[in-house]
Amino acid sequence: MREYFQRDNFTLYNGDCIKVLQELPKNSIDMIFADPPYFLSNGSFTCHSGKRVSVKKGDWDIGQCSAVKNLGFHVGWLKECKRVLKDNGTIWVSGTYHSIYQCGVALEMNGYHFLNDITWFKPNAAPNLSCRFFTSKP
Ligand SMILES: C[S@@+](CC[C@H](N)C(=O)[O-])C[C@H]1O[C@@H](n2cnc3c(N)ncnc32)[C@H](O)[C@@H]1O
Repeated sequence: MREYFQRDNFTLYNGDCIKVLQELPKNSIDMIFADPPYFLSNGSFTCHSGKRVSVKKGDWDIGQCSAVKNLGFHVGWLKECKRVLKDNGTIWVSGTYHSIYQCGVALEMNGYHFLNDITWFKPNAAPNLSCRFFTSKP
């Protein structure tokens, strides 16, 4: 596994998270923070600088055309995280309401124990253009 950046006791790897995690020894990590794809790039739209624009963050955000397959992605990377985490290690996973429930199911399927559910209050969230539902603030 090639290092992308290294200084003192900090090492950054750039690659598919599952492959990178598989290279790490088991029970070796104290804490993981992950911000996995929200799978929002599905042809819908959002508001950027007051204008309606399409959501297209990148191919990695398109998702796999099925909720079950997206769930499988989350189960897969969380399984590798579980292998490398120490028994007293901890994992933080961030997401939007589009993705976080699937991450929750995937955490449960992998046998994680939930400690906290933290909601970030974001006063400058994108406005609700359609006015057909409550405006999202997390
Ligand atoms: C929600 S974004 C995280 C953005 C990040 N928090 C930031 O501020 O730049 C999800 C990220 O996961 C990366 N990603 C998607 N699939 C991946 C994979 N299989 N392995 C590693 N990274 C992946 C994407 O490139 C993207 O940068």
